[in-house]
Amino acid sequence: MAEHVVADADALPEGGRLVVELEGFEIGVFNLDGDYCAYLNWCPHQGAPCCEGTITGKYTADFDPETLETTHDWIREGEFLYCPWHAWEFDLKTGDCTTNDAYSLPSFSAREENGNVVVSIP
Ligand code: FES
Repeated sequence: MAEHVVADADALPEGGRLVVELEGFEIGVFNLDGDYCAYLNWCPHQGAPCCEGTITGKYTADFDPETLETTHDWIREGEFLYCPWHAWEFDLKTGDCTTNDAYSLPSFSAREENGNVVVSIP
C-alpha cells in the first residue's frame, strides 16, 4: 500500500474537495465535517469525472395516507454528489449510488495526519 500526502489540511476545509492524480488515477478527496473520503474520479454509469459534479443535499418527501398531509425536508447539505453527465446521485459518506443501488464509487482510505491529508492506494 502506498500513502500519499495530497494537501495541507488547511487547503481542504470542511465542505471542500480536491481532485488529484495519484499513481495514474484521478481521485477526488472530500472533507465532510472533518471526515475525509476519497473516490476514483470515475462514474460507474458511463465513466464521467464524477468527483467534479455538484455537491449538495437533497429533499425527502413523505405522505401520510390518514391525514393526506405531505411533508418535504432538505437533508444532509453537502453530503451528496451528482455526476455531471446524467446526475446519478452518490452518498459522499459511503460512495453508494442512491440512484441505482447496484453501483458505488470505488473508494480509497483518506485521513488527516500531522496537518496533512493522506490518501492510501492499495
Ligand atoms: S456517467 Fe455518471 S450518471 Fe452517467
